Amino acid sequence: MSEEIYLEKKTGYAIMTINRPKQMNALNTGIVEQIDKLLDEVEADPSIRCLIITGAGEKSFIAGADIGQMGTPGYQPADAHYLITCGYKVYNRVEGLKIPTIAAINGYCLGGGLELAMCCDFRICSANARFALPEIALGIIPGWGGTIRLPRIIGEGRAKDMILRAKRIKPDTALQYGLVTEVFEDVAALRAGADSLAQELAAKAPITMAMDKEMINRSVFTYNDLTDSLALSYCFTTADSREGISAFLEKRTPDFKGR
Ligand code: CAA
Repeated sequence: MSEEIYLEKKTGYAIMTINRPKQMNALNTGIVEQIDKLLDEVEADPSIRCLIITGAGEKSFIAGADIGQMGTPGYQPADAHYLITCGYKVYNRVEGLKIPTIAAINGYCLGGGLELAMCCDFRICSANARFALPEIALGIIPGWGGTIRLPRIIGEGRAKDMILRAKRIKPDTALQYGLVTEVFEDVAALRAGADSLAQELAAKAPITMAMDKEMINRSVFTYNDLTDSLALSYCFTTADSREGISAFLEKRTPDFKGR
């Protein structure tokens, strides 16, 4: 497994870490494919009874999909389509794991990062965490389930306030919205808290745990049939998405034309 993502096995649980701190732990195609492979490893090992997902360092959990990759010369809508559908499948896999999952959110939790966190059963964060689905600023939409899972978790009105305005929220608001269940004073305390929660969950009866999860997920399940991912793929064919991505990489304000 590459050094940009790794799985550490502890007693009873495992920690999956995205390790691209210079890119704020953004997810490129290779990393998404590797998450899929690591999930095979997690599912094959009965000693892993809980999975923590986190980002390396103290600044960012995951700042979304890799905008640098999207801005690479020659990057085609078909490349984006592959990344999006691969992410769609992998994220649904995370949500459907039989073992409990914890997103330990150690900083920026944006775009595809928040979408991954929302596939986890528990979201806990450090005080420096910031949450947003800012895709509209890039001329694209959150296509890894964000338009479906965010309203499911925080309600339609708040989700529109965040998504349509690319609004960034702090842990106190995330706690009030029910987007996280616990806030720790710093990243070290968060990591200790995640370990402790994982140990607690790993000690529970695995069959009951899997059934509880399945029943709860079924009770709140709204459709997730690839429509949002296909809409995101479409966005990558527009001039506005090229403008939004270029503007981000050139550190300027985008000028959207509606085409
Ligand atoms: N992809 C690639 N690189 C990224 C990145 C991303 N998502 N986010 C940050 N970086 C890179 C920056 O380009 C920058 O690189 P350089 O040093 O080479 O210039 C480096 O990380 C540090 O970023 P900043 O200089 O911007 O640092 P900051 O502290 O001022 O801001 C930030 C940090 C708030 C995370 C800001 O970088 C930001 O807003 N990032 C973009 C977040 C975003 O739009 N995410 C959505 C992506 S699209 C998506 O996820 C689609 C989907 O649904 C699948």
